[in-house]
Amino acid sequence: MDEESAAPFDVDLTRASIARVYDYLLGGKEYLDADRRAADAMTNVVPEAGDIARANRRFLRRGVSYLVREAGVRQILDIGSGLPGDGNVKEVAQAADPDVRVTYVDNDPIVLAHARAMLATDERTAAVPGDLRRPDELFDRVEAMQLLDLDEPFAVLLSGVVHHLADDEDPGGLVAAVRARLCPGSYLLLSHFLDDDEPRARALERACLYGGLGSGRFRTWTELHGYFDGLELVEPGLVYANDWRPDASTPNGSPVTTLYAGGVGRKP
Ligand SMILES: C[S@@+](CC[C@H](N)C(=O)[O-])C[C@H]1O[C@@H](n2cnc3c(N)ncnc32)[C@H](O)[C@@H]1O
Repeated sequence: MDEESAAPFDVDLTRASIARVYDYLLGGKEYLDADRRAADAMTNVVPEAGDIARANRRFLRRGVSYLVREAGVRQILDIGSGLPGDGNVKEVAQAADPDVRVTYVDNDPIVLAHARAMLATDERTAAVPGDLRRPDELFDRVEAMQLLDLDEPFAVLLSGVVHHLADDEDPGGLVAAVRARLCPGSYLLLSHFLDDDEPRARALERACLYGGLGSGRFRTWTELHGYFDGLELVEPGLVYANDWRPDASTPNGSPVTTLYAGGVGRKP
């Protein structure tokens, strides 16, 4: 992507963007030099870092498919939605049921521009600017769109976004604020970098924090379980993302399986 076409807004293109680094690691084309450098810092310490992004994306697709096909979810709020590549949430959800309504939320204006372009003619999907660090404002905007009825069961997706919150931003408190919005019968899908007590997690965390991306915390099982407080975990629970209801396309024995976890919880 050239810098002119990438900059419809007042954004600093010399800094890496989480969404574009992720897109680069997934093999996409929406990246600039700063994004490639930040991704290279990660692959220099863990050459298979791209497989973590793919494990996340596949977990997200299986999770959304479960939510719509098996749990009967008809409304999805995708916070930290990212660039809408192939097989994005709306495509997976609406392939299972065309009536599913999806609202995408992200704090990156370029992500919003891409999402809005894709959704221009779609009445069942919306894109809203919002920041997980200001959950009240975020939910007010979602409600103002009137696409989702948050008094009826819905699913919130926090896929690959909570690890971009720093410890001093109180990720536990912010996820609790999101959980507090779930009415009974609603779901939380969450995936996150995992510190499973191996040196690669700490090396990759340093590369994320100081190699150009500026965020990316690897947290422990205990910390991750805390994000599901008060929810009933759907089988098989909070597990390595590749172990969550794997299908034929899920890698078996990937070298980075132990660096990424995910789960789905239901509000009783
Ligand atoms: C790694 S991407 C994940 C994209 C998608 N959810 C997925 O799992 O494929 C993380 C996304 O979260 C967004 N993000 C990061 N921090 C955020 C915040 N505080 N509030 C809202 N979005 C945020 C980034 O802009 C990026 O698009």
